[in-house]
Amino acid sequence: MKTKEDLFIPFSWEERRPIFLERFFYMPKNYEYQEQRFQWAELFGNEKPVHLEICSGNGQWIGERALQQPEVNWVGVELRFDRARKIWLKSFRENIPNLQVICGEGGAFLRCYAPPASVSQVFINFPDPWPKPRHAKHRIIQVPFLEALHAVVRSGGRVTLATDDVPYRDQMISEFSQVKGWKRIEETDWSSYGDSYFANLWKGKGRTIYYLQYEPLPKGRGMIWEEFRTPPKFGCELPGPKGPGFRRPDERLD
Ligand SMILES: C[S@@+](CC[C@H](N)C(=O)[O-])C[C@H]1O[C@@H](n2cnc3c(N)ncnc32)[C@H](O)[C@@H]1O
Repeated sequence: MKTKEDLFIPFSWEERRPIFLERFFYMPKNYEYQEQRFQWAELFGNEKPVHLEICSGNGQWIGERALQQPEVNWVGVELRFDRARKIWLKSFRENIPNLQVICGEGGAFLRCYAPPASVSQVFINFPDPWPKPRHAKHRIIQVPFLEALHAVVRSGGRVTLATDDVPYRDQMISEFSQVKGWKRIEETDWSSYGDSYFANLWKGKGRTIYYLQYEPLPKGRGMIWEEFRTPPKFGCELPGPKGPGFRRPDERLD
């Protein structure tokens, strides 16, 4: 049985770099990432469709989806190491091999690591609303993020968002409308969508949950996706978590 001590970042802050551990990709903060596109099939060992959840929190929602849908490869992207580690633990303890974790910033992951036109579905459940006006600049759903997202979602794919925050919902609609190539889909039945930790929290307090769904319009002619399909140049290593050179994590990495 894995414990949380089995996953730690094996270098000091000064030596930090992106690294794969088992089912876990760590993207350090304050780091200049090189473009190193993943090959999902290499990562999962199969060609199943990939669904991405960005801002996964403790992984309650994605863990349940991955268990229910073994025919899909699920990837959770979470900024905080402690929360990403919970998802990682879940994938081993509940034996969910079709669940992998990215610990890093969602936008940077889309721009540098996710292969273009490779993801069938993206879910963003209860992204932080940053309710104070002076903090609103931190919201993840903004034009540059949606442009990066558009490059990653394949034709026929979908993006689904959930929030309880009305101003943020309205901003999401506005930001999507400013990016060419997104079309809003009106979906009304969310009964089988599943509940994340925050969905349960807000529903328990009687709050209304708003869901938004978008699909990418067909990618424009002249966009040559093949150029991205070359094998990735991984500069990062792939040792096991107890391999040589591993030591206790530097707390500053959190
Ligand atoms: C309000 S919680 C929602 C968690 C989960 N989706 C749920 O519904 O229970 C938002 C989560 O997004 C993460 N987060 C915030 N900004 C992020 C970013 N730019 N990239 C990835 N994760 C992010 C936070 O660390 C936090 O765990």
